[in-house]
Amino acid sequence: MISIEDLKLKYKRAILASQKLYADRRGKDTAGAVRYTKGKIVEDITKDIIKIAWSKISSDEDRLRMDKKKIVIKTNDEVYKLSQDINVYIDDELRVSVECKSYTEVAMYKRVLVDASLLKQAVPTINSFFIVQLENFLGGDYGKDIEAKGSESVITLNRLFPEVNTVVITLLDGDRDINKPLHKPEYYKPLRDERLNYAIEQFRKAMLIDQNIKKGVIREPFDKYKKILMTYPDAKLLRRERKVVDRAQKEKIRKGTKDLTTIESKVTEIDVSGIANKIICGDSEIILKEFPDNFVDIIITSPPYNFGLEYKDDKNKDAIYWRDYFDKLNRIWRECHRVLKPAGRFCVNVQPLFSDYMPTHHIISKQLLELGLLWKAEILWEKHNYNCKYTAWGSWKSPSMPYLKYTWEFVEVFCKESHKKAGDPTKIDITGDEFKKWVYAKWDIAPESNMKKYNHPAMFPEELVVRLLKLFSYQGDIVLDPFNGVGTTTLIAHKLKRRYIGIDISEEYCRTAEQRLKDEQRQVRLF
Ligand SMILES: C[S@@+](CC[C@H](N)C(=O)[O-])C[C@H]1O[C@@H](n2cnc3c(N)ncnc32)[C@H](O)[C@@H]1O
Repeated sequence: MISIEDLKLKYKRAILASQKLYADRRGKDTAGAVRYTKGKIVEDITKDIIKIAWSKISSDEDRLRMDKKKIVIKTNDEVYKLSQDINVYIDDELRVSVECKSYTEVAMYKRVLVDASLLKQAVPTINSFFIVQLENFLGGDYGKDIEAKGSESVITLNRLFPEVNTVVITLLDGDRDINKPLHKPEYYKPLRDERLNYAIEQFRKAMLIDQNIKKGVIREPFDKYKKILMTYPDAKLLRRERKVVDRAQKEKIRKGTKDLTTIESKVTEIDVSGIANKIICGDSEIILKEFPDNFVDIIITSPPYNFGLEYKDDKNKDAIYWRDYFDKLNRIWRECHRVLKPAGRFCVNVQPLFSDYMPTHHIISKQLLELGLLWKAEILWEKHNYNCKYTAWGSWKSPSMPYLKYTWEFVEVFCKESHKKAGDPTKIDITGDEFKKWVYAKWDIAPESNMKKYNHPAMFPEELVVRLLKLFSYQGDIVLDPFNGVGTTTLIAHKLKRRYIGIDISEEYCRTAEQRLKDEQRQVRLF
């Protein structure tokens, strides 16, 4: 396997070659050749970075493939052939697209975003777009900071293309200075470990999402994309919103809940020191009855699915008569609603049991609406869980009873009384970049990979809780999970400086939840 040292050596050799090319120019114009050499260096190094990043996810090198074949995209009657410097395939699905540049100008960045947006619509399996540049020419902090935020123009452009998840990696420190070109020996800049490691980590994260995807049928991407050519109106390209005349007046007539942004009820602050930061073992329906009214800021939970999973201490084996299941949940929701503060948020992760034709997410949403909660959002948690993609069609190749497959779950978000939850601005911990990405309500997050380790059959991943907490709550808030399992919610609440309460019926799960918190506290003490 290639090491970071190999990469640095490769870079040094390549830069020396471009310096030699420049020194030997003898009056010939070699600018193009020098630029080409630099672009090629970035491409070569990036491929190695991707290989190293992949080795941190899987030891199976065959699952990773890279090429730069053109991808054909159809817009109305025109055909647009799009070439990226590196197409990264995992299990033969195109997942990451990379542009390699000696440097990038804002105009080029704009072009890259337009291409990426077209590509994303034509090839929905792509989840990240990278620009890897040798030196920064985009303004902002790319040449200075490793975890850069970008210049104002870059941030604005990113906001215009929310569907494109772009990562800009700058390999060398400092901005590009036309008067100090790298191909003159006196301006040589080294490739530093810190920047390389950052690049590896960004690619690792982008590819991690695919680690659970099983090897599918091998097919050539070119043919595949030819078959799914897309047609869409040009207006979509320009992101024009359809104009509504008298929007405000029409909203008034419709009487939606948009204007509910203030709290009418009188609530007195109570001392919660006896309840907060606890894992409690028992039936939520009973435990919650002991809690006061209006003190929880946010509930994040995932109820037992009634799928027949093997939860510990569950004599019913997670399979009871649906009516009894929903009645039980409703009694627990009623208590959740009571303990939730006005303006508090309620996020429920649900996976319907499609094979029972049971639309659990609709039924639970109806229950919560009937309790008086306001519907705020629906997040589509795309797990890319293709495990059973090629089987169980119901009626194969016949409309008599086709059975559809789903690779995602839902998170339904509700709030109590008001859509707006005011809070201390110094307790906000979401970054601009995170906000911009996460308000786009389709979240690509790989399923939890530690279920075996924690001996729990239905955990949600930490990242899901991180996003919900940062997007919907403030530091110091009280977080409740009435179906806490092995404590993913409580662990992340603690890590993100919120107070937590976790309830689960299984003693074993509660012990694990406590242990995860203790391990986290010990680790923090060590560092
Ligand atoms: C889908 S799991 C939640 C897993 C959790 N999100 C995690 O990441 O570990 C549902 C949990 O609800 C628990 N449970 C089932 N009925 C319960 C009840 N009446 N009160 C409290 N917990 C219950 C189960 O033991 C199970 O751990």
